[in-house]
Parts: sequence; C-alpha cells; structure tokens
Amino acid sequence: MKLFKNGVSRRSLLKSSAAVGAGVVGASSLPRFAIGQEAKIKLGMMLPFSGTYAALGEAINNALVMGVEQNGGKLGGRGVEYVRLDDESDPGKAPQNANKLIKSDNVDFLIGTVHSGVLMGMVKVIRDTGTMTICPNGGAGAATGPLCTPNFFRTSFSNWQPAYPMGDVAADKGAKTAVVMSWKYGAGEEATGGFREAFEARGGKVVKEIMVPFPSVEWQAELTEIASIKPDCVFVFFAGGGAVKFVKDYAAAGLKDSIPLYGSGFLTEGTLAAQGEAAEGLLTSLHYADTLDNPVNKKFRADYENQFGKVADIYGVQGWDTAQLLIQGLDAVQGDMGAKAELISAMEKAELDSPRGLVRISAAHNPIQDFYLREVKNGENVVIDIAAKQLADPARGCKMA
Ligand code: PHB
Repeated sequence: MKLFKNGVSRRSLLKSSAAVGAGVVGASSLPRFAIGQEAKIKLGMMLPFSGTYAALGEAINNALVMGVEQNGGKLGGRGVEYVRLDDESDPGKAPQNANKLIKSDNVDFLIGTVHSGVLMGMVKVIRDTGTMTICPNGGAGAATGPLCTPNFFRTSFSNWQPAYPMGDVAADKGAKTAVVMSWKYGAGEEATGGFREAFEARGGKVVKEIMVPFPSVEWQAELTEIASIKPDCVFVFFAGGGAVKFVKDYAAAGLKDSIPLYGSGFLTEGTLAAQGEAAEGLLTSLHYADTLDNPVNKKFRADYENQFGKVADIYGVQGWDTAQLLIQGLDAVQGDMGAKAELISAMEKAELDSPRGLVRISAAHNPIQDFYLREVKNGENVVIDIAAKQLADPARGCKMA
C-alpha cells in the first residue's frame, strides 16, 4: 500500500481553531460552522495508481483536483486536503485500505474507486461507518442495487449501463450470434450480461462466453477459438492496459476485418494513441465521446490537455464531475459535514452540467445519462448516434434506508 499525504491534518487545524476560540468563549461552545471554516475538507482518494488501471486512477485524480482548483480550491468555502492511497485494484486489501482512510486519516469523504471488486470490498465499510462516499468509476451493480445506502453516490455508471445499448446496436447491424469475452470478475460479468440481455431480447444468441482471469492479457488460445466459432460479432469488456493489448491482438490475429468487434466504450478510452491503426473503425457505446459538441466539453478538454499534456477521456470526465457533485453538495451546507441529511439531499438534487451532457442522480444514487454510439476515426472516439437517451440503471433490489 502506497500512501501520499499533502498539507496539514484536519486535527491540527481543529486544534488551532479551538485554541484561538478557547480564550474567548471556550472551545466546546464554538459553533460547528466556525470550526468548519478553519479546517480543510479531507478527501480520501482510494484509486489504483499502479497496475493495468493506473492510467484510469491518474486521470480521475487529475481532473478531480482540476475541478476543485477551478472552484478556487474550495469546497463549501473550505480548503481541501487530499490523502491518496494506491488500492492496486486488489479486492483483498480493500476493507483494510478503506478503514485506514476512514479511521486513521479521518477523511470527510471517501472517493473511490475504479475496480468493481475493490468497490465491493469498500461498500461494507462504507455502510457500517456511514462515511460519505463518491465512486468515480467502479460499476458494480450491487453498490446502487441491493447494497445501496444514502451515504454512497456514483458519478460514473453501473456496469450494465454502457454495455446494454450495444446489444441493440449489434442486433441493428444484423448480428444473430455473438461471442462475449472479458476478465472474470464483477465488471466483466455484469457488462457481458448487459450486452446479452439486450441482444437476446432482440432474438440474438450468445453462443460462447469466454472469461480470463483479471488482469491477464494472455488470450491467444481464446482468439483462435473465436476464429473457429465464426460468430457474427464479438462483444468485450476490457479497459486500461488490457484494452490496449486486446485491440492490438484482435487485429494481429486477423479477426478485425472478418468478425466485428464491439465493446463498452472503455475499450477505446485513454488507449487510442497506443492502439493506433488497430482501433480504427471500432464501434463502442459509452456515456461520453471525445467530439461531443457542447461548450463544457470543449473547455474541459482544452483545460485538461493544457494542464496535463494528455488528451482527456471518460475517466477524467468522471473525476471532474465528482468535483462538481462535491461542490454542489458542500456549497449547499456551507462546508458543514455535520449537516449530513441536508448534504445528502443536495447531492440527490444535483444536476451536473458535465462534458458528457446533463447528468441527474437516480433514486439509487447512480447517474441517469445519455449513452452514445461512437466510432474510432483518426484516433478519436467520434459520436455517431445516441445509443440510449437518459438511461437509468434498473437498480434492482435497492431499498434506500
Ligand atoms: C470496473 O471494475 O467496474 C471497471 C473498471 C474499468 C472500467 C470500467 C469498469 O473502465
């Protein structure tokens, strides 16, 4: 576990503000808000900063900090301190890592994470402690389904959401049979399940499901198997470093021109420079596209590129939107973390003017948003259609307390 810490701790600020107050009215009688103004809001950034999802964690972190800086470096009038922890996309370490941020670092908000399995490891801790949490990526359905809880919000998607519209797209293109392939863990299972649900509802048939262990990128035997099955299309969920390699290997195996490769759009997010020619022409669906023609997206992309020297992607968008949700929530309570019910209510009502378009928060605390059909053209994810308008996750099993 790597730990990075910046700035002064909340406790020392609380102590100094209490000491100042003690001479006048006594520390204990200081109004809560006066203390709050002195202390920084502490954000526990539990993200992968190493491994196949490292670039995803970095983009989320970069854009979240950028969003806060663009708000004068403040949330609800208070300065911000970040405590960063590399979760290594390791579900086994997730409860311990989340507990450390909550109980040792005393963070006000937990921000995390990317990997669905790690998210599931965090959820029990979040429910038990009531910690205010925003998930900027991990799509595990249960977090906004049976395990939904008032203190948990997501600014990204459920795994089902971006994959489901692609089942319709494949059917529209005339496909009758499909092979689905992914890593064998929650995100892969739920994404391929979403595709299957829509594709089979349209009379298609998933003839083979291929799952490889996370984060393995050894799939030559599986590509040979796909070539021999000859389905009408292949649908995959891969992301980060693994997505780069899969797209290149699929093309190198000679499959790209004979069997259309579809995916949820993570397949081509933050990866296009490395995938090069192998990605050209791929169709995917996602709640974002590089070329979305709205002023917020244009400014966001220009700012991100100026500041970090890289093109923005969906992970950055989700990080930036996490900052917007924090701003809307904490501004409503003027930075008072003690006003929890009001804070939650403000976050529920938030409308995010996102680079991806309008985002509203569902009753299960998951984004309601448009999903775009995109095609890779000249190294960009170009929007060619809306695959699903203002799509909400079904949130099966969520009963908000
Ligand atoms: C997930 O594990 O939920 C996950 C990871 C990477 C993505 C999307 C979903 O790009």
